[in-house]
This record gives sequence, structure tokens and C-alpha cells, in this order.
Amino acid sequence: MAFKKVLFQYFTLALCLVFAFCAFEGNARTLEDAPMRERHEQWMAIHGKVYTHSYEKEQKYQTFKENVQRIEAFNHAGNKPYKLGINHFADLTNEEFKAINRFKGHVCSKITRTPTFRYENMTAVPATLDWRQEGAVTPIKDQGQCGCCWAFSAVAATEGITKLSTGKLISLSEQELVDCDTKGVDQGCEGGLMDDAFKFILQNKGLAAEAIYPYEGVDGTCNAKAEGNHATSIKGYEDVPANSESALLKAVANQPVSVAIEASGFEFQFYSGGVFTGSCGTNLDHGVTAVGYGVSDDGTKYWLVKNSWGVKWGDKGYIRMQRDVAAKEGLCGIAMLASYPNA
Ligand SMILES: *[C@@H]1O[C@H](CO)[C@@H](O)[C@H](O)[C@H]1NC(C)=O
Repeated sequence: MAFKKVLFQYFTLALCLVFAFCAFEGNARTLEDAPMRERHEQWMAIHGKVYTHSYEKEQKYQTFKENVQRIEAFNHAGNKPYKLGINHFADLTNEEFKAINRFKGHVCSKITRTPTFRYENMTAVPATLDWRQEGAVTPIKDQGQCGCCWAFSAVAATEGITKLSTGKLISLSEQELVDCDTKGVDQGCEGGLMDDAFKFILQNKGLAAEAIYPYEGVDGTCNAKAEGNHATSIKGYEDVPANSESALLKAVANQPVSVAIEASGFEFQFYSGGVFTGSCGTNLDHGVTAVGYGVSDDGTKYWLVKNSWGVKWGDKGYIRMQRDVAAKEGLCGIAMLASYPNA
């Protein structure tokens, strides 16, 4: 009996030790993670993120942690002329992030390009240009979870030419394009093309102001009354000859220009400033607007590009992308599918 009792005591002690050890291990893991978990909490508060389930939060935390570690390793290496930042996309895996843009890149091969390019004979262009300084660019907008980058790109180019031709900068309606431009290629939040948006504005004989037809970020039914309330109109649209950054320069020297790019890479997701030099391919998946160009302090030529992911992304919503690269397509394919509306 006594032996059994001693044995039991030993057994209990051993069990306790095992538990204590496990508890200690668990504690150590949590302690080691505590600063990162704290950062996740702070990031959630800043960006107003709410997760419904604890398992979702745990999953998002793991993604956040992986992104933060990769961003910090990139910045620490310091071997690129641009930096990454822990922005509002930090709890999205790159796969989840890729699902947002929905530029209809896969139909590009079927696109007929317009033959005329009114700026082809331009010889002198300014060395640098920023259309924001000319008052031709509205504040940064945010497309949210709706894949209508194509509408934001086309609208920004239309806002630009409207300002340059009438002297008035009017924020125009993306939602009208999302809701009403549905008879052709464009499919609201499911994707579209800038040229088809221009075609719609042309055939509709105008586009409403943002104030009249505000952004909802979801597919809706066309509001015919708001649609008929035109704040601007265009006389046509033209394509910039493909794969020529010098042609693109002539166009951007004259007005803000819609461009398609590949924007789905990790480094694009978290770009926060400097001149972006890649990595990216030419698998066009996003529509944005070139609103200027220049040369950085270290002599790198760049395009100034307006994005539609809010002011928390990039350099207050903008990105400077390397210009005049070796590839004729331009960095991320920026010279492949550029176009602009005519006043
Ligand atoms: C450019 O110049 C050529 C040669 O003079 C001319 O044929 C062409 O029409 C001009 N292009 C434009 C868009 O004015």
C-alpha cells in the first residue's frame, strides 16, 4: 500500500511537472508574441478593423505577423529606392489582396486600339510635371472592396481634361459607371476597362458629378435621374501607341492619362514611398492614372501615379514608378494600355 501511495505521489508530481512545463512553454510563446499581438491590436484600432470570431482574429493575426516581418526585413535590407509600410492591407495575404483589383486584363488581347494619337508630333515637353499643381487632380479616392479600379482611372483622366478645357475641377461619379455602364465589357465591381468607360461617357453624352451620384462601392441599379445630370462631357478618346514610354510622356505632358499596370505583388501592396522599381510583371490587373512625371533626387526618372486605394496606401495615395526602363512595356506594363479622353 505504502509503495503504491508513494508511486501515486510521484506520478502526481510528475504530472504536475509536465503541466507546469507546458504552462511555462505556452506562457513563453505568448510573451514572445506579446509585442506583435499588441501591434496587431493597435493596428486594428487605427484602421477600425473588427473581427467577428476569435478564430478569424487568430488567422488575421498570423497574416499580419507574417506581413509585418516581411515588410521589416525588406526595409531593413534597405537595398531598394523605396520603402514598404504596414498599411490597411496588412491583414490580407497577397492572394486575398489580388482579388480586389479586377481590371479586365484577360480581355486585353481582344481590344481594338484607336489609331489616332493627337500628340504624336509634339517635340518639346516640360522636364517635370505634376498635374496636381495645376489643379487638375481631385483628392485621392478609395474604391474599397469593389473591383472598379477601371472606373476610378477613367474618372480621374476625365476630371483632368475637364479642368484643362473648362477651368473647373469637378469630382466626377465612379458609381454612375459602376451602375449604368453595364451593356459592354464593363461589369461594375467585377471589373472593366477604361476605354469602355470613356465610350460610355461619350455615348451617354456626359457624366454626373460625384456629389450628385456618390460612390457606394457595390453594384447597384442605374439611377437614371442622376445619370441625366451631366457635370461634364467628352468628345472622344484615344489610345497612346502601345509599348512606348516616349509616346506616354507626350500624352501625360498634355493631360492626366489612364494607364493599366500589374499591381498585385507584395511590394506594391505595401509600397509607402520612394521610387518604385519593382518587382512586378506585365500581367495587367489594375487601372490607375498617370498625373505627372519627374526625376528623383538620386536621378531616377519616375511617373507620378494616382491610385484609388485611399490615402493610407502608398505616398498619401500616390506612387512614383520608375520611368524609361529597359523593357518597352514600361515598369509593371505602364506603357502597354494607356488612353485618355478628348475635350
Ligand atoms: C504628324 O506629322 C505627320 C507628318 O507631317 C502628319 O502626316 C500627321 O498627320 C501628324 N499627326 C498629327 C496627329 O497631327
